[in-house]
Amino acid sequence: MCGIIAYIGPNPALPRIVDGLRRMEYRGYDSAGLALAHEGKLWLRKEVGRVADLASQLRDGPESNVGIGHTRWATHGGVTQVNAHPHTDVTETIALVHNGIIDNTNPLRAMLTSQGVSFRSETDTELLAHLVRKHYDGDPVQAVRDALKHVRGTYGLAVLFAAHPDVLVAARNGSPLVVGIGQGETVLASDPQAVVAHTRRVVYLQDRELAVLTAEGVDVQTLDGDTVDSAIETLDSDYALASKEGFDHFMLKEIHEQPRSIKRALRGRIQVNEGNAKLGGLNMTPRDLVAVQRVINLGCGTSYHAGMTAAMAIEALARVPARAEIASEFRYRHPIIPRDALFFAVSQSGETADTLGAVSEVQLKGGAVMGIVNVVGSTAARTCGRGVYVHSGPEIAVASTKAFTSQVAAMLVFTLMLARCRNLSLEQGQAVASALDDIPSKVAQYLREPGPIDQAVQLIRDARYVLFLGRGYSYPVALEGALKLKEIAYVPCEGYPAGEMKHGPIAMLDPGAPVVFISPDDGQKEKAIANMMEVKARGATLICVHTKGDDEIEALADVSIPVPDTADFATPLLTVLPLQLIAYHVGLALGRDIDKPRNLAKSVTVE
Ligand code: M6R
Repeated sequence: MCGIIAYIGPNPALPRIVDGLRRMEYRGYDSAGLALAHEGKLWLRKEVGRVADLASQLRDGPESNVGIGHTRWATHGGVTQVNAHPHTDVTETIALVHNGIIDNTNPLRAMLTSQGVSFRSETDTELLAHLVRKHYDGDPVQAVRDALKHVRGTYGLAVLFAAHPDVLVAARNGSPLVVGIGQGETVLASDPQAVVAHTRRVVYLQDRELAVLTAEGVDVQTLDGDTVDSAIETLDSDYALASKEGFDHFMLKEIHEQPRSIKRALRGRIQVNEGNAKLGGLNMTPRDLVAVQRVINLGCGTSYHAGMTAAMAIEALARVPARAEIASEFRYRHPIIPRDALFFAVSQSGETADTLGAVSEVQLKGGAVMGIVNVVGSTAARTCGRGVYVHSGPEIAVASTKAFTSQVAAMLVFTLMLARCRNLSLEQGQAVASALDDIPSKVAQYLREPGPIDQAVQLIRDARYVLFLGRGYSYPVALEGALKLKEIAYVPCEGYPAGEMKHGPIAMLDPGAPVVFISPDDGQKEKAIANMMEVKARGATLICVHTKGDDEIEALADVSIPVPDTADFATPLLTVLPLQLIAYHVGLALGRDIDKPRNLAKSVTVE
């Protein structure tokens, strides 16, 4: 979603801001802009489209050592140059970039309009620039502080004053900002990926904090003006200059990274001999674990699917009631927070606004919530305090692939812990642990021989409608396969529990319609075959993802994609792989922008 970058130091700001914008492109955006302070004035450029389009307009940029930049993903107001950030006050001497949403936009806009301010854009951000101006009396920090007293909503913002080129002011409430402290230079960004080129020494701003940036460093205060003693942290080595490592797209690279990323999610956590597992970040003793009477996984999109998968495993192996909930629904339905429940906030980015909102709701009602998070130091990780990092490494492609399998793997480790201290014997625990331990090599084995993906792509690329079906553990996989195809290829499709097909979606099946059936050799296979017969009876074309060597399914399938055999609960870690590849190759065949699909953002930091 939107990205903020700001630079102050001895070097030219313009190339550094453009570089920061490029590093945040993966987050998804529709316009970009920047502002520099130079000789008492602001120099500002913004463009609809890619950062490259903006960069081509910057040849006459002045030599300035301070500036702010932004990639915008439209919320308030359409995708236009006027709506792009930075926004300025009426005198065009204060420029501001903003992530988040201002809740009291209408009254503030009305108040400023009544005072003679005429708005140029449809955005909520523009009013912040006017509000800062209204409170400016020579002191830039006080102006921002006073302006924010009137604001309700979420913001991460950076403010540049033409009259004060030696300072940048930033503030955070609900939208992440990190300050990088370099050698005589300071950078601010909403994403550590944009900071890492300058320094690994960072300060994460917390909600309701304001930061005064100079070339010498940062002074963090509360919005009320109290001094904050922020810890300087070192960015994880995962944050490196993102490279495709010879692959055509980040998505393909990330699909092929899964043997390694799953291994990292499991490493040091599974104890095969003891038939047990350990997750230090949870800090839970066996006594704590047996006190857990239910597990509720909160997440959005792919993370929700990972939560569904894990919930099924928790019920099956640990016999603890478990379910997944879509965070955006959960947070607003006045949910019951049982005292004996353990909640997990499942989020790759750790910045998804809906998931963070659900976490607040659980915490507000006294519930225990832990993170299943990829991005170290992210808001979810900090807010939850305890949890599990999935260690999949930075995921750059908007479509989540390796994060899904790492989330599932990490939650299966938890499942083993929970099950072992309840009802699994040593031998049963050992079987679960070694099934998990074998997964990275099985994933590698599949990726070496992915099967006839091209045949599936030919059937799907021009399809009017594609149905993904699965039962049990394969149902969330079907949802995930359909989500990937929508995101990357924009092909109309849906995922459904196979047994539910006859209650509606079967009406969609024309002769030849592709149906992707996920049917590994688990307890559900017999029933799945019955559903396959129903599909075939309508003349639909059956693309089956199944366990290698399953002749029965192979005989039924028009396209048969085998995956290695594994324990039932671990099948999603293998059956999802062909679906990721199908989505990628259909997207490619249709000429889609694979790593930056239209309208989507990598982390959805607004509701
Ligand atoms: O960062 P999160 O895991 O919280 O993100 C949740 C969803 O926005 C995300 O999974 C989204 O569905 C992806 N684009 C899926 O590929």
